[in-house]
Amino acid sequence: MPDPFHLGWFLQGSSVQAWNEPWTGSIGRDWRTPDLFVDMTRALERACFDYVLIEDSSYVGESYGSSRDIYLRSALAVPRQDPSVVATILTQATSRIGIVPTFATFAYPPYLLARLIASLDQVSAGRIGWNMVTGSSDVAARNFGLPGLPEHDLRYDMADEYMQVVNGLWSSWEPGAILADEETGVFADPALVHSIDFEGEYYKSRGPLNSGPPVQSRPVIAQAGGSPRGRQFAAGHADTIVAAVKGIEGMKAYRDDLRSRAAAQGRNPDAIKLLFLVSPIIAETEDDAQALKARKTAWAAERVHERLAHFSKITNIDFARLDMDAPLGELTTNGHQQSLAEFLKRAGRRTLREAMTDYDSTVQSVELVGTPDSLAARMGEVMQAVGGDGFLFSMPNVSRRTVAEVADGLVPTLQRRGLVRKRYEHEMFRDNLLAF
Ligand SMILES: Cc1cc2nc3c(=O)[nH]c(=O)nc-3n(C[C@H](O)[C@H](O)[C@H](O)COP(=O)(O)O)c2cc1C
Repeated sequence: MPDPFHLGWFLQGSSVQAWNEPWTGSIGRDWRTPDLFVDMTRALERACFDYVLIEDSSYVGESYGSSRDIYLRSALAVPRQDPSVVATILTQATSRIGIVPTFATFAYPPYLLARLIASLDQVSAGRIGWNMVTGSSDVAARNFGLPGLPEHDLRYDMADEYMQVVNGLWSSWEPGAILADEETGVFADPALVHSIDFEGEYYKSRGPLNSGPPVQSRPVIAQAGGSPRGRQFAAGHADTIVAAVKGIEGMKAYRDDLRSRAAAQGRNPDAIKLLFLVSPIIAETEDDAQALKARKTAWAAERVHERLAHFSKITNIDFARLDMDAPLGELTTNGHQQSLAEFLKRAGRRTLREAMTDYDSTVQSVELVGTPDSLAARMGEVMQAVGGDGFLFSMPNVSRRTVAEVADGLVPTLQRRGLVRKRYEHEMFRDNLLAF
């Protein structure tokens, strides 16, 4: 019997979910309060997911047609709350699942980040991860008083140094530093708490961290760098990597590459769990699932401008300037390079409109359209072929219904096949991630 695989959920920000889509209740009124996210995370905890990753960006999009109009009219990643707020609430509504907010290195000075994450790890009793991103937009940089972001690969060089600072701060309280000895009255042993006096090329920090250490010593680090430089970074630092790569061969090659990069940096590749994006369409019969896929494709065609605007936001390319009915030419980005490369590869000689409206143009690694039973079988086969380590559900239209389709429909079927866990092995996040 093969090892079970891991499950994560990719939540598109602390935002209005699936605005103007069916089955979303009164989302236009309810988005300010976290009830949907609390219900969602509790359902995923019942289904024994490893984690919920809360995506983030810190600006209002304006790359499509040099205008904010479409982003605001269609609630595309705006409004978006600071992810630390909903992450804190989720830690108090659950007891086992990992919670992984995103914070960008250009936006959070390392001391602030190390303290925030350590505090979250404490209040969650060791269940926090950090989705470590370098940011991808000059518009966002300007919100923080910067002229723009550094060039793509330099961002990763800076992030390497950033990791040294935060790792240093998290270990500025050595194991055993907190005595909390009621007899002697000593709380912490000063000999085990030290400054770090870090002075690098880009960052400086004195330390020690005044929050005290994280419960897990070092919180789980999630990363998604997909370019060669990004993979090198992720292989060096991440505990879990989320990947938008297409097809079994591509998935396997990506995993093999990451594992060899990790080994070359002296890490145990088995200590890194690579999760692949999927967006399943789940229905009671195969015919229903195919019909639902056709409806979603038609709907995507109607919303082609919204889809392009989203892609413009992550690549900083103004797709509104391109001819929708012509094939794509050469394009480059200082934003998400991997996402652009995958899109161009899939688009081939098709027109921009065709490439963008095809259901297959979503970021999923393998197409999953079917019943819980057929999808469970397919997911098992895919994992067997790729070698591991799991799937990250990226549902574009999060509602209580889509959550139930996965948590109450698909996952019990996966569990019956022994493909995913039926109960958490441990109390803390990293321990569960490394349990198999
Ligand atoms: C599943 C997934 C989640 C991501 N979440 C975020 C995010 O929340 N915020 C962000 O700025 N970038 C996010 N990214 C982008 C990555 O950090 C990275 O920039 C992207 O994968 C491209 O990698 P590259 O820059 O090395 O080409 C995400 C990427 C993937 C695949």
